[in-house]
Amino acid sequence: MEDLRIGVIGLGLRINLALSAHRPGKGSVVTAVCDADPAVLDKQAKRFEAKLVTEDYRELLDSPEIDAVIVMTPDDTHERIAIDCLQAGKAVYLEKPMHITVEGCDNILRTAYETGTRLYVGHNMRHMGVVRLMRDIIVKGVIGEPKTVWVRHFVSYGGDYYFKDWHAERGRTTGLLLQKAAHDIDVVHWLAGGYTTRVNALGDLMLYGDLPRREPGTPRPDGWLHEFEWPPTTRKNLNHHIDVEDVSVMNMRLDNGVIAAYQQCHFSPDYVRNYTVIGTEGRLENFGDGPGDTVKVWNTGPTGYRDDCDIAYKIPDAEGGHGGADPGILGEFCRFVRDGGVTDTSPVAARMSVAAGYMATMSLRDGGTPYDIPPLDPELIAYFDRGQR
Ligand SMILES: NC(=O)c1ccc[n+]([C@@H]2O[C@H](COP(=O)([O-])OP(=O)(O)OC[C@H]3O[C@@H](n4cnc5c(N)ncnc54)[C@H](O)[C@@H]3O)[C@@H](O)[C@H]2O)c1
Repeated sequence: MEDLRIGVIGLGLRINLALSAHRPGKGSVVTAVCDADPAVLDKQAKRFEAKLVTEDYRELLDSPEIDAVIVMTPDDTHERIAIDCLQAGKAVYLEKPMHITVEGCDNILRTAYETGTRLYVGHNMRHMGVVRLMRDIIVKGVIGEPKTVWVRHFVSYGGDYYFKDWHAERGRTTGLLLQKAAHDIDVVHWLAGGYTTRVNALGDLMLYGDLPRREPGTPRPDGWLHEFEWPPTTRKNLNHHIDVEDVSVMNMRLDNGVIAAYQQCHFSPDYVRNYTVIGTEGRLENFGDGPGDTVKVWNTGPTGYRDDCDIAYKIPDAEGGHGGADPGILGEFCRFVRDGGVTDTSPVAARMSVAAGYMATMSLRDGGTPYDIPPLDPELIAYFDRGQR
């Protein structure tokens, strides 16, 4: 089997995904790389044996020697770049979130439908051990029918990662309840077996609004992601423009009646996601979210607090980025480009997570008023449900 020839657009922090895709002789090879920033291109391109190195992604689209592209540029650029790639007939791996607006997502989905070019959205959490384990437990009926899902997201390095560059700007992300939460909203949908139809939310910029910022146009500081500052109030060198929230809480009603909640804080000391799913016959909760950590199930009772639980499941060992999720998702992407068909990730689900995060952000900025999620054209849903055939 010939290697799938991949072009990569955007060689920033997410470069590890592209490095995982560069496996000459083992299924996929990066043959072209692009970054609009010449300094980034100069530093990173040599990590691949790419034949084509360019600052203009349109050059990749003209090359007959590229089967698929991975788009890893900032969120606000996704709509334009994905549509151009799809129209050029290149299968697309588009990083999450699909876009920063619902309209942008729908335009991408419609272009994939009209061109017939394969579209895959990089919701790698669906390939994370903890998420797959929780889903298996639910699918096997161990906690009965899921009725409510509660997620707490503690983002310890939030001030370093999300408030020192474009992530801090509404114009580039809409907000972190979309940018960051798109992952978990997608997982909530997957675990609960439905999509959000109505949301409300509250949130605020509590801590990072008043800390020292960099001048516009100055690069992110050296070591900015290795030398985390603690406590969060000592963080400096923040982005020149900050108007997204650092604390947000949202409530969701899903189309199958499930009620869910998601909470995010960017100045917690520890980084972890904590999920609770309560079904008609039990409850699960994860304690840690990496390989070797535990998902506990209580499905007898009623009792008082019990640390020992009824069943403890170990999150399997895994190698590779994001707890093994990155190699897992790339494997699925390569298979999908070759054969098409249904995948564990879903472009429709990717749109639904953006839609919930987007409308929750509107609610948050409107005093918590509930908002309905705009529906998606059923013809598009049917096309993607058929595996884009
Ligand atoms: N799935 C995950 O776990 C995960 C993790 C991190 C980031 N992401 C997503 O990956 C994407 C990239 O994030 P990042 O942290 O690497 O951002 P980044 O800012 O570190 O890197 C983005 C790169 O894209 C380049 N770029 C911008 N516009 C371009 C254009 N028009 N053409 C070519 N290059 C362009 C920039 O010069 C930069 O080098 C984002 O959408 C982000 O949300 C996903």
